[in-house]
Amino acid sequence: MKLLGTSLGKEAWILSVTALIIAAALVYFDDSAPSEYTSMAEDMKTLEDNFRLQNKSCFILGASGETGRLLLQELLERSIFSKITLIGRRQLTFEGKANDDLLQEVVDFEKLDDYADAFKGHDVGYCCLGTTRAKAGADGFVRVDHDYVLKSAELAKAGGCTHFHLESSRGADKNSNFLYLKVKGQVEAEIESLGFERFAIYRPGVLLVDRRESRPGEWLARKFFGAVSAVCSTSMSIPIQMVAKAMASNTLLQPEQKTEILENKDIISLGKVKGNK
Ligand SMILES: NC(=O)c1ccc[n+]([C@@H]2O[C@H](COP(=O)([O-])OP(=O)(O)OC[C@H]3O[C@@H](n4cnc5c(N)ncnc54)[C@H](OP(=O)(O)O)[C@@H]3O)[C@@H](O)[C@H]2O)c1
Repeated sequence: MKLLGTSLGKEAWILSVTALIIAAALVYFDDSAPSEYTSMAEDMKTLEDNFRLQNKSCFILGASGETGRLLLQELLERSIFSKITLIGRRQLTFEGKANDDLLQEVVDFEKLDDYADAFKGHDVGYCCLGTTRAKAGADGFVRVDHDYVLKSAELAKAGGCTHFHLESSRGADKNSNFLYLKVKGQVEAEIESLGFERFAIYRPGVLLVDRRESRPGEWLARKFFGAVSAVCSTSMSIPIQMVAKAMASNTLLQPEQKTEILENKDIISLGKVKGNK
């Protein structure tokens, strides 16, 4: 018994030290810079009212996905656009009363040029499109997360969109050795060069969401970061609702720079701004 107790004690000690090291590493690698949004005391309600008066329209790419559907909900609840168009590869059905301000355009992403009209006449565009390498293979991932996204941005720009929002990823870097981060960084840079009047890049960490689709690797990461974020705030993960809220709130703001990069902590901070639902 004594022996067992000693060995369990050792294991517990090793586990505690490991957990401490991981926690310390997370704190060390956390973005320590204070977010510019934490002190933002503007009245969201007034901003929403003013924006609404401008009768703007928008489109959402990826509204069938986890972030996209929450963004759609957020925009419908706030009612800041006079028209919302969902652009996707399939028709979506919604429960309850049909929303007259909601339109759908079903497109073939392999022939997007043939669907240029779908991208015409929107003031604001939101892109929550994406797949995974596990699901689509390396080439398929590049096709969706780079080619489809860039082409959509090009058509949106040509169609008169002035403000483009891109859900990218934490660590996006066009010079990265990791395909995922490299592709995300490349598409960010290429869209920036299109010259939108405003280009907002969101770089969330691991999205904390009970995903409808099964993704075992991501599930593990979510469980880990979900547990860690319950203890301390980290730049590595984010409740997915925060991303949708931040994208909606940021639409109402007028930043000085044409291109803004919102890192994980900025998104959390903006997602929490008073006045948000
Ligand atoms: N998962 C994370 O933890 C994480 C972290 C940081 C950033 N991100 C990035 O955030 C973005 C949104 O992520 P999410 O998890 O909310 O997305 P999601 O739930 O996987 O939804 C992806 C959307 O893209 C569409 N899509 C996928 N493959 C397509 C294809 N071949 N052709 C046309 N449309 C296609 C889907 O349409 P269908 O419904 O028709 O398939 C869906 O609307 C992605 O770019 C992702 O890389 C994710």
